[in-house]
Amino acid sequence: MIRHKLLLLGMTETDDFEKADFILFNTCAIRENAENHLYGELGQVKGIALRRKDLFVAISGCVMQEEKPVRYVLNHFPFVSLVFGTNNIDAFYDLLEESIKAHATYVDVRSQPTALVESPEEDTNGRTSRYTAFVDIAYGCDKFCTYCIVPYTRGKERSRKKEDILDEVRFLKEKGYRQVTLLGQNVDSYGKDFGDKYAFADLLEAVAQTGIERIRFTTPYPSDFNDQVFDVMAKYDNVMPSLHLPMQSGSDAVLKRMNRRYTRKEYLDIVHSLRERLPDVYLTTDIIVGFPGETDEDFKQTLSLCEEAHFDGAFTFLFSSRPGTPASRMKDDTPEDVKHERFDRLKDLIDKLSEEKAKTMVNTIQEVLFESVSRKDPSRISGYDRHGKLVHVKGDVSLIGQIRKVRILESHTYSLVGEIVND
Ligand code: 5AD
Ligand code: SF4
Repeated sequence: MIRHKLLLLGMTETDDFEKADFILFNTCAIRENAENHLYGELGQVKGIALRRKDLFVAISGCVMQEEKPVRYVLNHFPFVSLVFGTNNIDAFYDLLEESIKAHATYVDVRSQPTALVESPEEDTNGRTSRYTAFVDIAYGCDKFCTYCIVPYTRGKERSRKKEDILDEVRFLKEKGYRQVTLLGQNVDSYGKDFGDKYAFADLLEAVAQTGIERIRFTTPYPSDFNDQVFDVMAKYDNVMPSLHLPMQSGSDAVLKRMNRRYTRKEYLDIVHSLRERLPDVYLTTDIIVGFPGETDEDFKQTLSLCEEAHFDGAFTFLFSSRPGTPASRMKDDTPEDVKHERFDRLKDLIDKLSEEKAKTMVNTIQEVLFESVSRKDPSRISGYDRHGKLVHVKGDVSLIGQIRKVRILESHTYSLVGEIVND
């Protein structure tokens, strides 16, 4: 959204700090290294800012929703002109004006949103792709997993009105968009705050009925997930056969300390029922390694759950202590090298599982929505098949935005290579 607002002001983009007149850092608070990464980048910009008094530096995003990092920025990087959070992005032009007038860093961070985005036109402005779009269905999170900072930075769960969501999807479809991804921290608790019976499965069905070609959603929470969602996935061909279902750990003891509200068995029951109902679904997950007090036995449980669920891919994270969260106060006596060794073992297993799955796709025909030209090799273009797997083919820019049939020729750990099949 902000990128678009800046382009509207007549700015052009560069990824070279030296060339820029205006630098905006968008930050993510979910793990600590993102915060450290920001300070590293600001350190680099410091030298330029000392030479160039007219350089404008702004910082936004979740990290700025916390008091400590904002203080750190004010103390260490006084050349920063503007700091704002996630709740007043709509007011960006006003913030810019105020910060230009101000003599010191202008800070405007709010704990409550000013307003939910209601008008589809407005929200569509900031999209970077003309074919695929994210559509917010809910904001915030009430789950309070003990490691996670999101409930503090993003606030209570608020669902968007279904009429607004559907208007936005229809609007995107008319504009030629081919795929929407419905977005929320816990999509499957959609609508609970309205107190009526209209649930995520109903919303998903209504979105499917708009006829937009591809629908994805992220992220569901295992214990809120119900079979009704599987019914909708099975019934509508435009709901893509992929599910990202974060498990976090395979050990009941760790899940409990994480305040995840399901057991290993409950998680596996969902996976089995998914595989039974929708055998073609591509299942991915998030896993945290090295949660405080995680023992070797706990970790083995995570490995065995991965084998049993046979994930097709996973994002693996080393536990990162976030200030103010309950997990940051838990006793953590696992040495760092043990955590890293576990992390590597898990990564090897996940790679092995996703390679196994990818191999089964060789010689099959997949439908791919092309999205980008390869940076390294401009004669190659890339897109995603219905399962969400990355596919590269030889081709040119005219294919971008098209859905074409592709015969898969090679499989790699994270991607497939194929050739377009002419119908
Ligand atoms: N440390 C490590 N990983 C985390 N995640 C969230 N918070 C933390 C943390 N403090 C991971 C979870 C979540 C994903 C988006 O990020 O696995 O599902
Ligand atoms: Fe964080 Fe997701 Fe847990 Fe919410 S459900 S607290 S966003 S990990």
